[in-house]
Amino acid sequence: MIQNRHSGRRRFLEGKDCIACHGNIDEHPLGDELVHAEKFKEPEPIPGKPGFLDLQVKTSHDADNLYVRVEFDPGKQPDSAMDKDFETKVSMIIDDGSVADAKRAGCWTACHDNSASMSRGIVYITKYLNISRAPGGDPVDAEKLASLKAEGQYLEYWQARLNPGAKAVPVDGYILEKRVENEKPVVNVDATQTKAGIWTVTFTRKLVGAGPGHKDIVPGKTYNIGFSVHAGHTAKRFHYVSFERKLVLDAGEAEFVVTKN
Ligand code: HEC
Repeated sequence: MIQNRHSGRRRFLEGKDCIACHGNIDEHPLGDELVHAEKFKEPEPIPGKPGFLDLQVKTSHDADNLYVRVEFDPGKQPDSAMDKDFETKVSMIIDDGSVADAKRAGCWTACHDNSASMSRGIVYITKYLNISRAPGGDPVDAEKLASLKAEGQYLEYWQARLNPGAKAVPVDGYILEKRVENEKPVVNVDATQTKAGIWTVTFTRKLVGAGPGHKDIVPGKTYNIGFSVHAGHTAKRFHYVSFERKLVLDAGEAEFVVTKN
């Protein structure tokens, strides 16, 4: 069936979350659909691109730090030559419950059809939250942005920029009216790759007091998280993206219950 509107749209607007429909099983087939078949959904598919990859994610903490370990096999990735500097980029987005839409859509809440490289993309618009821009794309005024930021209405993100045989480059920042990269990341990244190509990437960050633009990770709160991977030197929309998942410290209802090691 040819249609350019996602059929989950109406029920999403009525209150059904992405993962409530898509569950843990759709990331594979939807990825395949985008990469291989449905040209009206992806007008410039990368030839030979695997439609999905699986991330094995493990979490733990000690008295001071949160550890998130992401392991994956990128498979056979064609070189898209979009990002000349890095072969692979692994990202994680974190909301502490302040961003209403993040609970419902994870990473996808920051993705819009007018973001750079999307169907109505404007080159300078990166990821942003709906509350930060008017429907046409212009940001709300500086005062409003400052108060949203002060209320914690932003997504924090961490990224590991990777090349085989090279030391991983850590990046962190936040997303409100745009994606803002911190000058000096506080997240630490450790990455290794096996001969067979499997990456193991561990993000480490202080649980609390990591500084402005960083959420405190405390017991009793539910965090909304999402993961993405750019592989094969891709950039912008050409990444693997998870649906939303939840994370709690020590105890609670979530896909990731972070226990003490
Ligand atoms: C009411 C159930 C429902 C909800 C809620 C829902 N989806 Fe879907 N989604 C579907 C169905 C059914 C399809 C496949 C048919 C189609 O393409 O519309 C689909 C297809 C997709 C696709 C494949 C590309 C496409 O356009 O077909 C993506 C990506 C996707 N959904 C992402 C999301 C995201 C992100 C959310 C939350 C913001 C979401 N979905 C919420 C039912 C849903």
